Amino acid sequence: MPRGINLASKMEKQLPAELVNFMWFAGEIAHTRGERIYLVGGVVRDLLLGQANFDLDLVVEGNAIELAQQLKKLNRGKITTYPRFNTAKLQWDKWSVDLATARSETYDKPGTLPSVKPSSIDNDLSRRDFTINAMAIGLNPGYYGKLVDLYGGRNDLKHKLIRVLHEKSFTDDATRIWRGLRYEQRLDFHLERKTLKLLKRDIPMLDTISADRIRYELECILGEKYPEKVSRRAQELGVLAKLHPALKGNGWLAEKFEQARRLSSPEPPEVGLYLALLAYSLTNEETERLISHLRLPKSSAQTLRDSITLKSKLRLLATPGMSPSTIYRLLEGYSSPAMVANSLASESPAASQNIRLFLNKLKYIEISLTGNDLMRLGIAPGPHIREIIELLHQARLDGEITSKQDEVDLVKRWLD
Ligand code: CTP
Repeated sequence: MPRGINLASKMEKQLPAELVNFMWFAGEIAHTRGERIYLVGGVVRDLLLGQANFDLDLVVEGNAIELAQQLKKLNRGKITTYPRFNTAKLQWDKWSVDLATARSETYDKPGTLPSVKPSSIDNDLSRRDFTINAMAIGLNPGYYGKLVDLYGGRNDLKHKLIRVLHEKSFTDDATRIWRGLRYEQRLDFHLERKTLKLLKRDIPMLDTISADRIRYELECILGEKYPEKVSRRAQELGVLAKLHPALKGNGWLAEKFEQARRLSSPEPPEVGLYLALLAYSLTNEETERLISHLRLPKSSAQTLRDSITLKSKLRLLATPGMSPSTIYRLLEGYSSPAMVANSLASESPAASQNIRLFLNKLKYIEISLTGNDLMRLGIAPGPHIREIIELLHQARLDGEITSKQDEVDLVKRWLD
């Protein structure tokens, strides 16, 4: 039975009315079904911290899929069910709510995904990573708004502590090592003394985690507001070396991440840009090892490879007095985040400036005439059409011509 303080008015104040109404109905309907439903995890933590978080995670002591199907009728949204996991997602307008059946977990082998079976909210909370993420709020009539805090999560929030629930937490699931650092740095908290000890002890357990899960954790970190805080801490604790021993979470990286943010503001930088900066000091072979260790998707792998190739061209790119068409030829075809990473990382202002010229201007320059236009002007069909188009493009890049008429005049001159 839920115990403790009531957060109904906090919910009312901090969450959009539509979500509050939805939760209230969910409680009513669960009640008529003889089930209990709770708001759990990160949103409860952030509610108590007064921070915005509208990602509702609901846990049902009962059947989450059936309940979701009933709730769907309320808002005419979309439902996606995952019968294998007994979970469902409801989406309507700009909202998305996850519903899961309360479950207990057992880890047959460290690092693998756990075996799960339906259970109570108490067991569901006991399988979670940190006390601050292991709280729930009752939504049923009579219990609406009541905080369930079995592990002292609220107290740890007050004292800014990240604490695991039991000794084997990181052994069972070493992704929690990365999660712990992420929360610690995001919230400006501290790993509680014993938790820190366990975390250090279990760093080798990161080897039990699949590439896909590690990559997901890295993407979450690079999606944080200040990922360099996490990488610095990860370096200090020897966790970063588990991604690749040559990676550095140092002041240089912090400075470059900050510059990347300024450059892409108001949007946050692409993950690919952060990744290219993180991997910037790696050699070819080290980069290939990182790519396979994380099983990076093709586009991210290409960004890292492009970044290395571009790094080897920086000297050339710094040559004084290079024509725009030469710059274009040097940079054409490389991925944008790789170019941006090099413009930020290069120590040559001239090279950086040339990369920026390409990204901001040259790559958008096109010619107006088409192959058909050229034939109409009297050029015979054949491979030299392509060559003429390239020459016109070059003349446009170098500012020798600026309009369609200039292009026509130039072609006519060539024909004379
Ligand atoms: N969780 C866990 N162990 C993991 C991953 C998740 O115990 N390895 C639990 C935590 O209780 C967490 C919840 O599942 O609160 C949901 O996970 P997730 O969506 O990743 O995190 P949030 O808590 O929503 O936090 P945020 O998205 O703000 O990082």
